Amino acid sequence: MSLHIPDELLTALSSAERVVVLTGAGISAESGVPTFREAQTGVWAQYDPRELATPQAFARNPRLVWEWYEWRRKLIQQAKPNLAHHALVDLEQAIPAFLLVTQNIDGFHWLAGSRDMVELHGNIARTKCFEEGHVVGWWPETDDVPPRCSSCDGPLRPDVVWFGEGIPEQALRTAFDATAGCDLFISIGTSAVVQPVASLPLLAKRMGARVLEINRDQTALSVLADWSLRDKASQLLPELIRRLGYPTNAIDGA
Ligand code: OAD
Repeated sequence: MSLHIPDELLTALSSAERVVVLTGAGISAESGVPTFREAQTGVWAQYDPRELATPQAFARNPRLVWEWYEWRRKLIQQAKPNLAHHALVDLEQAIPAFLLVTQNIDGFHWLAGSRDMVELHGNIARTKCFEEGHVVGWWPETDDVPPRCSSCDGPLRPDVVWFGEGIPEQALRTAFDATAGCDLFISIGTSAVVQPVASLPLLAKRMGARVLEINRDQTALSVLADWSLRDKASQLLPELIRRLGYPTNAIDGA
């Protein structure tokens, strides 16, 4: 299927030297991972995710929050990266200076093969000590829910950014520095409203970069973007790679 891709966009993409890509939950939606706001089904339907994804909620009821993340982890383990994730690996290999900035915590970009990337909101597969903050790779079998930290005996928690928490300093600086110097900024599958991430495309625009948005629905960014394509990422991105003639790593039906 040939999607409508403006020639001017193909020209901008083929001549781009420094590209920053921002992704959100929409790029994983077609892997079967519900977006942050759609995720609440079954027993979790009674909870507002913003009420669970906070340090206060964890301090109040660590078992409930830990079990919610366990449930989301299992959902993600049953899914896999889709053609959109693989197309971004092809793009990374074709562009001289490339950075992928993701808000997603599913780890699918890394699994697909992306390496020049930062995870602004952490990764659900990683666990850390609630008190001391260090990542914990392993803990002994226990009936404790959540398990306890072996050094301070405090509860363990997922290594993700909760509401009211700051984004990892280094990752954020890397994202802003690359955005300030890019010549093309691509926003994919994000409602582009959560700060400070939402200010990245505006910074790119202000610094003279062109901005491409690939999103199923209209967002606050749509009117500012040079191109705003209302397509599914897993259809449009592989088509872009094909039209640009870049080699692809995607295995058919990946
Ligand atoms: P949202 O659920 O806010 O937005 C997902 C966007 O993806 C929507 O605008 C959809 O239209 C679009 N979309 C859905 N399916 C798509 C597809 N197949 N192709 C292209 N676009 C598609 O998710 P995010 O913007 O990622 O933060 O949310 C940002 C942050 O808000 C999350 O990281 C989370 C939440 O608070 C934290 O957990 C700290």
